[in-house]
Amino acid sequence: MRPTATAVSDRFELIEVPRSQGAPSFAADVVAGLRASPKSLPAKYHYDDVGSALFDAITQLPEYYLTRAETEILREWGWQIVRVLDEPIDFLELGSGSAVKTRLLIEEALRVQGRLRYSPIDISTEALRASSLALVDAHPGLSVRAYAGDYFDVLASRALRFERRVLAMFMGSNVGNYEPAGALRLLNLLGDALRPGDGLLLGADLKKDRATLELAYDDPAGVTAAFNRNVLARINRELGANFDPKGFAYVVEYDEARGAVDSYLEARKAATVDVASAGARVSFAEGERIHVESAYKYAPESIARLASASGFRLAQTWNDRARRFGVHLLVRE
Ligand code: AVI
Repeated sequence: MRPTATAVSDRFELIEVPRSQGAPSFAADVVAGLRASPKSLPAKYHYDDVGSALFDAITQLPEYYLTRAETEILREWGWQIVRVLDEPIDFLELGSGSAVKTRLLIEEALRVQGRLRYSPIDISTEALRASSLALVDAHPGLSVRAYAGDYFDVLASRALRFERRVLAMFMGSNVGNYEPAGALRLLNLLGDALRPGDGLLLGADLKKDRATLELAYDDPAGVTAAFNRNVLARINRELGANFDPKGFAYVVEYDEARGAVDSYLEARKAATVDVASAGARVSFAEGERIHVESAYKYAPESIARLASASGFRLAQTWNDRARRFGVHLLVRE
């Protein structure tokens, strides 16, 4: 199937990109992950409506410093970030971005060049529609060409079109939720969609002490635990399974060698779960874990390595004052 384009208004076009042929469904990924040894579930399935609302709550937690640190960088340095490519630019964003962070850069760019096209890519058509309408409404110089679909599918579909120099954005340390090979694959695909001289603004959390990291991913109020358990509740809701989410303890471990915070759901006692609509039955031993997320932390040298392995060069880095987080400008070679 081909992408379909709809002109929602004169400054907002929505392009829907279907899943690529042969891509596994939610049910297929769940069954494969629960039958694997060790068990795992892809972190991308955390973000249904409930999970997205819980993630928004996480960004407000005192222990989860990432969003505040990145916002501080954009507030302080946004004026420089939008000027650094030295030409009129258009924005491409993987993820439609939190209103606050994206708006900061959009406003800075509009101050410099008067007109801007913003192309967000997001899996949720409805979230894209709502955020795009609000943005064009608030900014007369802005037009939005939004792509609804999986990042990999949209980038591989070659549906992206740009008329000017592009500043792509992949913010919020989302890169950290990919295994290194997946991050490399995504940056390679993104590089194929860009032209030499285009930029990629990459927000990535920095390596730091274990205590700070483990607290950021296991807050005492239990919001992050609820966010992770929601994936089991989602499997119940959408696939007719009978998980008892509270029957799984939430466990977080920082693996210093990999620089990754790993999150697990651990069965408190032996259990058998039916995933009705997939016709699957899965058994858990007491203490058996499901890996539900890794969050890789990036030292500046690893960003430089990732950049050169995917056809970019690291041109500039901005940090927050406490040096917890980095926003990096990668330029396509
Ligand atoms: C979305 N992503 C960058 C978050 C992170 O920090 O890895 C997801 C998250 N998981 C638990 N807390 C936040």
